[in-house]
Amino acid sequence: MSDGGTARASAFERGEARKAAEGLGHLSGFGNEHSSEAVPGALPEGRNSPQRAPLGLYAEQLSGTAFTEPRAHNRRSWLYRIRPSAAHPAFTRTGNGAIRSAPFNQTVPDPNRLRWSPLPAPAEGTDFLAGLWTLGGNGDVAQRAGMAVHLYHANASMDRVFSDADGELLIVPEEGGLLLRTEFGLLHVEPGHIALIPRGVRFRVELLDDVARGYVCENYGAAFRLPDLGPIGANGLANARDFRAPVAAYEDVEGPVEVVNKFCGNLWSATYDHSPLDVVAWHGNHVPYAYDLRRFNVMGTISYDHPDPSVFTVLTAPSDTPGLAGVDFVVFAPRWLVGEDTFRPPYFHRNVMSEYMGLIEGAYDAKAEGFVPGGGSLHNMMSAHGPDRETFEKASAAELRPQKIDDGLAFMFETRWPVSLTPQAARAEHLQQRYDDVWQGLERHFRTM
Ligand SMILES: [Fe+2]
Repeated sequence: MSDGGTARASAFERGEARKAAEGLGHLSGFGNEHSSEAVPGALPEGRNSPQRAPLGLYAEQLSGTAFTEPRAHNRRSWLYRIRPSAAHPAFTRTGNGAIRSAPFNQTVPDPNRLRWSPLPAPAEGTDFLAGLWTLGGNGDVAQRAGMAVHLYHANASMDRVFSDADGELLIVPEEGGLLLRTEFGLLHVEPGHIALIPRGVRFRVELLDDVARGYVCENYGAAFRLPDLGPIGANGLANARDFRAPVAAYEDVEGPVEVVNKFCGNLWSATYDHSPLDVVAWHGNHVPYAYDLRRFNVMGTISYDHPDPSVFTVLTAPSDTPGLAGVDFVVFAPRWLVGEDTFRPPYFHRNVMSEYMGLIEGAYDAKAEGFVPGGGSLHNMMSAHGPDRETFEKASAAELRPQKIDDGLAFMFETRWPVSLTPQAARAEHLQQRYDDVWQGLERHFRTM
């Protein structure tokens, strides 16, 4: 810290944020029709839009799907707020910082396997929004299709409020806890948890530690949902009840508040005369969530072979082709390996889907070194990849006793379209220059009998 006053102020703010985060209540379950009121009687009974909403509040609907989408997928919430969202001045363009959006057409799509070290430390006073740095993505924000991979590295809490009209944000903290103050209430996430902020929902990110670092998948397409379970049955993978939605909590703040809106790839700013986090009560199924990845119920073989990693899908964002995700969020969580006569780490493969992988903690069982927490790798459509030489040699000779993998938490954003890089990712100093080397020296073992 260069300024003692700032340091003391931020330490105080972090203490306050930590106090607010501890012991937070929540509502349980993914996709439920939740309802919550911060003040008794704020939620109307029996109708959504009474002639006069209770307590002098304004009623407002927030849609996550078209009104006419099938009921099973339809998402909307009703918000009861001090002022309607419409009460704001004009937005004007503001700088995009290091945030970029689809279409990503400024670099030539790269078939090479690529790997990055963690983002360098940000300048003093960098909040979550200023700390967002886009690696790449696909699709088109204006078509509401595709996704972007962002990383963030921040050392200050946001004073301003952010909302993203372009997509849903899946936040994957890798270092530092976050308190998310949303229109729907507060969510607390730590490394190993994820948060989902629906398209258009206003929120502010407050830091619970000195530094916050992690990953964000911006999903331009249909919202993430739990995958179907098929023959797995009625339980397993991410269980719906483990998703936490906030309980209603509001700010009654009169005075200037900057609100930044991401719209069709650009940031727009307006200074409101009040906080838009002023929702006193709400009900609906279009809400933010938090989820602890350590609660993931991992499925795997109890006989032989390595199942495809689709069994590790936490959330899937469907596209218009059944089974073909715009983006899947997949976690490689602690698990037992017991396969007999099986090469147990992830196998060599070429995938029609494109894979961005990150590491939240520990190590990943297909890479001996170079893939570190906060870093990431990109294996684009049809790129050949798999275990590195060291991992292959070790796993081919290993004694196949039951083995617990308990020292790592890795994840993947897996998408149906190739990921194109932003110029800043293609030229980054933290782009590793010799990633291909991990597959060098894989020896020829072929022999005819
Ligand atoms: Fe892969």
